[in-house]
Amino acid sequence: MMKRYEYGHPFETEAVVVDVPLGETPPPYFRVEQGTGLCFTYPLEKDDLVYGLGETMRGINKRGGRYVMYNTDDPNHRMDMPSLYGAHNFLIVDGKTTFGAFFDTPACVVFEVDFQGSGVLKVKCEEDSLRLFVLEGNSAAEIAKEFLGSIGRSFLPPLWAFGFGQSRWGYKTERDFMAVADGYRANQIPLDYICMDIDYMNRFIDFTTHPKRFPDFQGFVSRMRRRGIHMVPIIDAGVKVEPGNAVYDEGVEKGFFATNEEGKTFRAAVWPGMCHFPDFFQPEARKWFGAQYQKLTDCGIEGFWNDMNEPSIFYSEYTKPRGLVDAAKKLLASTNLEENAHKNQADYTRFYHLVDGKRVCHHKIHNLFGALMTRAAGEYLAENMPTRYLLFSRASYIGAHRYGGIWTGDNASKWEHLRQNVCQMPGLNMCGFLYSGADTGGFGGNSDRELLLRWLAFSAFTPLMRNHSAKGTRRQENYRFGDPGAFANIVGLRYRLLPYLYSEFMKAALRQDLYIRPMGFAWPQDPKARSVEDQLLVGESVMIAPVLEQGADGRKVYLPEPMTQVRFRQGEFLCQEVPAGELDIRVPLDEVVFFIRRGFACPVGKAAQCTGEVDLTQVELLGSGTRYEQYVDDGKSKNCTLENIRVVTKTGA
Ligand code: GLC
Repeated sequence: MMKRYEYGHPFETEAVVVDVPLGETPPPYFRVEQGTGLCFTYPLEKDDLVYGLGETMRGINKRGGRYVMYNTDDPNHRMDMPSLYGAHNFLIVDGKTTFGAFFDTPACVVFEVDFQGSGVLKVKCEEDSLRLFVLEGNSAAEIAKEFLGSIGRSFLPPLWAFGFGQSRWGYKTERDFMAVADGYRANQIPLDYICMDIDYMNRFIDFTTHPKRFPDFQGFVSRMRRRGIHMVPIIDAGVKVEPGNAVYDEGVEKGFFATNEEGKTFRAAVWPGMCHFPDFFQPEARKWFGAQYQKLTDCGIEGFWNDMNEPSIFYSEYTKPRGLVDAAKKLLASTNLEENAHKNQADYTRFYHLVDGKRVCHHKIHNLFGALMTRAAGEYLAENMPTRYLLFSRASYIGAHRYGGIWTGDNASKWEHLRQNVCQMPGLNMCGFLYSGADTGGFGGNSDRELLLRWLAFSAFTPLMRNHSAKGTRRQENYRFGDPGAFANIVGLRYRLLPYLYSEFMKAALRQDLYIRPMGFAWPQDPKARSVEDQLLVGESVMIAPVLEQGADGRKVYLPEPMTQVRFRQGEFLCQEVPAGELDIRVPLDEVVFFIRRGFACPVGKAAQCTGEVDLTQVELLGSGTRYEQYVDDGKSKNCTLENIRVVTKTGA
């Protein structure tokens, strides 16, 4: 059961899309203090777990941390970093008393969860207007499903978006992209898309392509498509100040850019130098910006990534101009946590949006900016593309999951960031972002063979599986680390698993339920399962236990019940029944071990080099279960319903 509690004049975020009955204040569970802003406190029991909070650092259980929901571009993803790129204000307290709460406001919200051993959950909302939703149910799993049911169905990407994607900041020319495609094909490592970072543009101007690097962009896109590869260009939030550029001129003329304190167009520097920022809060501006994507869809593009949409600001007309290099250096050097949490606030308090004809300061509605950019693109693509599209964004707010997925931003090639990726996935799912994933191999820093292989072995199970790295770091394509066979095997597993992964994703999205779950959701009575932070459930049947330690030749796995252990070795599935309890598994670098729950089945298909070669109907069932409900469609049509489920049975069963 879900109830709504209103304070002041809540901003309409459109995160919740169903009618929720108004409860009588005060809300249950919380002690509420009103003064400057709002403060909610709940005394936590010793054994309470706190799930959710989407894209935040630390564990699956959020206890012990302080999380500042104020979308921030900061690549120093330290464990105690308070703010990342998304604001996902939903959590579930799971213990003797179990409930969920969504603090729906686009302003800054601070969650302190048993922070410094306080024993309380404290939620401080900076503004005094808020819509609070409280959810009650019998279990954390039930509450998560109820919440997902209230925020609308996840965006449904096409099948090719579940293939493997390669990306790097630094690919510039047609030849660079061709070389990547060649590298993958020559080494028989499957590949479905290559992302185009900012250098494909003409001087980083949105919706342009570089005339010299791409003399025939459309021809290039279709040549790549014939090789089974989709090109996925980046779009940044800032539009370069460039009179004469049609997008810029039109935006200025129609008043579609955000304004500054004096009511003039707000200017701040990002990659292209000085930019204006589309006022995504105006429905007309959203429509206008979304329609610009047509310039690229007309060339055959079917997928995009939206970036720098917190929005990221290097400096502005107000903050001291430092030049791009200094600003970037400062960004990298910043270690001050409070500075992280309030980065760019000096600018965010000085730019304005038009909301229903009224000027509203950006700072008060900051966390919705990126989400509305995703919405602008998503609404355009949904309406105008004949098939499903791929879209993922860096900044987000709950609700944006209906239009696109997210990636978790500028992590680094560190083992702790692989672990972080594992911990972030369930929280992201609980907040609606089923289609998500991290920069596999790490964005900053230099990856190595072992880390990349282990990371791929985990990402093989996340809907977005993309290798992305920063300019200046070691080249990170899977074929650059020697013995490409190991990489071909692990990415190959992803493709063999697509009948299962795609089906589980589509079923979860259509049923408005989780795709990735923590262990405690399936075994809520098992204290050990509840405390496991490095194993996850992927769909109904599969449990994964990725190797997350450097130098480890395997790991310990906790099995709450007997399962089928599946070892993927050199293109073969080796299955073995294993008992409940603690298990030691050996996992050589070129192998993946995962588990199928007792009585469940997992369909696997044939090997493929791209999703164009995948036949979802040619499957074999692994596991002790004898039937599997498989979602199957053509991987692109828009009429996705649960009627597309067919029952597959084991031969002889
Ligand atoms: C940002 C993005 C990163 C991208 C870079 C250049 O840092 O998060 O993915 O490569 O900008 O566009």
